[in-house]
Amino acid sequence: MSNYLVDTFGLEGKVALVAGASSGIGAQFAKALAKAGAKVVLGARRVDRIEALAASIADETGSKTLAVALDVTDRKSVVAAFDKAEEAFGTVTVVCNNAGIAIPNWSLEESEDDWDKTMNTNLKGMWHVAQESGKRMVAAGVGGSIINTASILGLGVGGMQTSYATSKAGVLHMTRSMATELQRFGIRVNAICPGYFKTEINDEFLETELGQNMLKRSPARRAGRLEELEAPMLMLASDAASFVTGVALPVDGAHSVTLP
Ligand SMILES: NC(=O)c1ccc[n+]([C@@H]2O[C@H](COP(=O)([O-])OP(=O)(O)OC[C@H]3O[C@@H](n4cnc5c(N)ncnc54)[C@H](OP(=O)(O)O)[C@@H]3O)[C@@H](O)[C@H]2O)c1
Repeated sequence: MSNYLVDTFGLEGKVALVAGASSGIGAQFAKALAKAGAKVVLGARRVDRIEALAASIADETGSKTLAVALDVTDRKSVVAAFDKAEEAFGTVTVVCNNAGIAIPNWSLEESEDDWDKTMNTNLKGMWHVAQESGKRMVAAGVGGSIINTASILGLGVGGMQTSYATSKAGVLHMTRSMATELQRFGIRVNAICPGYFKTEINDEFLETELGQNMLKRSPARRAGRLEELEAPMLMLASDAASFVTGVALPVDGAHSVTLP
């Protein structure tokens, strides 16, 4: 890589934390951050997975990594994860706030328990992580970048996703609200809105006829490849995006343009 690109987009010396790093998009983000030079803390509930992933990313990239148990629905767990990250590497200044679940169902059939689980993870959980990281950056007197993984379903809606789409729309407004307040501290808050990427959250659905037809009707006529999320995330993470905050960036092959 030329010095220009390294100087512009590189993350050398930065400490990054990925919430929901044990699979799919979060695992991809953790590896990309390490390749860009950051020290990377991987957080999730499935600790065996993040420990293995942290070791393989360190081997592959030469960057330092750390696995920490993290349940974003539990504030104490969030605080403990940031404590461990800070102890190992210093203040976290790049946060991929990515943990999420989906429990598809018709809106009239969804249980209160499923609604609560979705909101507690996707919206309140993201708030826990964003607030905790913001507080710590302000206390340390450093700026940084918080990147919330929302969804194109936060921009428009699809069937059987009332609680999920509502939670992601909430994440977008939380992003905008925190971006305006945290600008004065040099902390940027942005959201990435992925279209459909095959991961554990949706692989069964995407294999069905309904899923295949939905993809065929989308402008790109395919799901995204996980590596296609890396550069948009790295741009938001890096100082290259120093004047970009409060943004909801679709990475979706124009799928969101066609949503109702
Ligand atoms: N794939 C897509 O097409 C797509 C599209 C738009 C948005 N998204 C969003 O992208 C994010 C990542 O999803 P994915 O597609 O990569 O699916 P995934 O492979 O199922 O990953 C979900 C991640 O979230 C973590 N997670 C779930 N609940 C958690 C909790 N309470 N505390 C901590 N971590 C938790 C999971 O880790 P543990 O289970 O180990 O805790 C896992 O690492 C989600 O926010 C999702 O809504 C995905």
